[in-house]
Amino acid sequence: MAASTGTTPREGWSSRSAFILAAIGAAVGLGNVWRFPTLAGENGGGAFVLVYVAFVFLLGLPLVISEIFLGRTGQDDAVGSIRKVAQRSGVSEAWSGFGIMGVVAAFLIVSFYSVVAGWVLYYVGVMGADFVGALAAGDPLRGALPGESQEAIQGRMGDLFADPMLLLAMHFAFMGVTLYIVARGIGSGIEAAATVLMPMFFVLLIGITIYGAFAGDMGEALAFLFTPDFSKLTSQSLNTALGQALFSLSLGVAGLITYGSYIKGSDGLGSTSLTIAFADTGVALIAGMMIFPIVFAVGLDPAAGPTLVFQTLPFAFQTMPAGSLIGLLFFVLILVAAVTSSISLLEVPTAWGIGEMGWSRTTSALIFGGSAFLVGIACLLGYNVWADVRPLGFWDLFADTDILDTIDGFTGKVMLPLGAFFTAIFVGWRADRRLVQEMTGLSGSWLALWRFLIAWLCPLAVGLILVTGLFPAILGS
Ligand code: TRP
Repeated sequence: MAASTGTTPREGWSSRSAFILAAIGAAVGLGNVWRFPTLAGENGGGAFVLVYVAFVFLLGLPLVISEIFLGRTGQDDAVGSIRKVAQRSGVSEAWSGFGIMGVVAAFLIVSFYSVVAGWVLYYVGVMGADFVGALAAGDPLRGALPGESQEAIQGRMGDLFADPMLLLAMHFAFMGVTLYIVARGIGSGIEAAATVLMPMFFVLLIGITIYGAFAGDMGEALAFLFTPDFSKLTSQSLNTALGQALFSLSLGVAGLITYGSYIKGSDGLGSTSLTIAFADTGVALIAGMMIFPIVFAVGLDPAAGPTLVFQTLPFAFQTMPAGSLIGLLFFVLILVAAVTSSISLLEVPTAWGIGEMGWSRTTSALIFGGSAFLVGIACLLGYNVWADVRPLGFWDLFADTDILDTIDGFTGKVMLPLGAFFTAIFVGWRADRRLVQEMTGLSGSWLALWRFLIAWLCPLAVGLILVTGLFPAILGS
């Protein structure tokens, strides 16, 4: 029996806008500022961007509504919320199983997310030192460090990866901050962090984009991002675009079920969900418009892959006016986005521990934050001492992937789509229709449209892309 019916009232957001801000904070993260530009670059730009945006609104948005509906109706951790909706709908409680998968997936994601955020933290330090050097030299607006070559600047990432202790220290610091905020709770932890960090994020994002428009090549960036070349699309890139849409909206791992369960009011979920989807997609596109003008200005390769942000950009900054200052601000921006997302990830298992196991918030956060820290250590060792380890090496899809990329790939390509698939089937087919209508606040043709998308399009499209992505041989590509 769940221990969630205790005597102390359950925590909650202070207002509707507090929930929206926290949910946007969860959505906007490394996925927007690091992965989206990386994937858009690797997959040829425009066509990928178009497919991505279509997935966000046709598949992502209906799922955002569904997850928030489950949480808000259940008022419990992810598993408990699904169970309660199942009870009220008169269907099997076994449906809460996909909540458990979500809890596991969120736990796995936060473990490697913290490692990547640790790299960002390191770059804040390195860029900060550059800027302090520029200040000390009496030239705060300088770009290049005198005498530093492209190799030296790009070599910083390799140096970092070769140093397990340094990686560990950064991972430890980031996970520590995440754990601290989550342990403080919804109001004085997560909501307070979002209230401070999100405005800061938006100011930095707009500021650096304007800088890039003047100092970089915005024309080429816009052409790259918005001129579709459909010959560049493969079944793999469709799978990638779907995985990215789910990841960026924080879907498929019960993140929004958990956040939604702290909503007390009863406003319509349609406009709330639309705001979240618009904000998240807007930030991803603006992040592209922030990064690519700078990349093109220096004539660098947009398809550099995961090192785009860590090697290509720092070099570009060094050659530009006020580069050391902008570079520092850029990494602060990514760090801020990462914090508000990692807390949402850790909150999923933490809420589960509170709701299902009856642990205190501090105990639960410590248990899951601590174990995720340990899994993260395996990820970071995968760049040096365990560089040859291939955890899913027997599976051709992951035959050549290191520890971090395997956890990233498995959660993103398998667990997220599966979670989304079950959410769609459960909410679209099994949940009581009147309950759904009452709790989502949808009516008329919006309700009909949403019903069609969640009951038909989502399961079919997600299922198809899942299968073809996992077994590319089916399409012969
Ligand atoms: N959406 C975040 C990003 O884009 C990552 C994230 C936060 C997430 N919470 C999540 C991903 C829940 C999946 C599920 O960086």
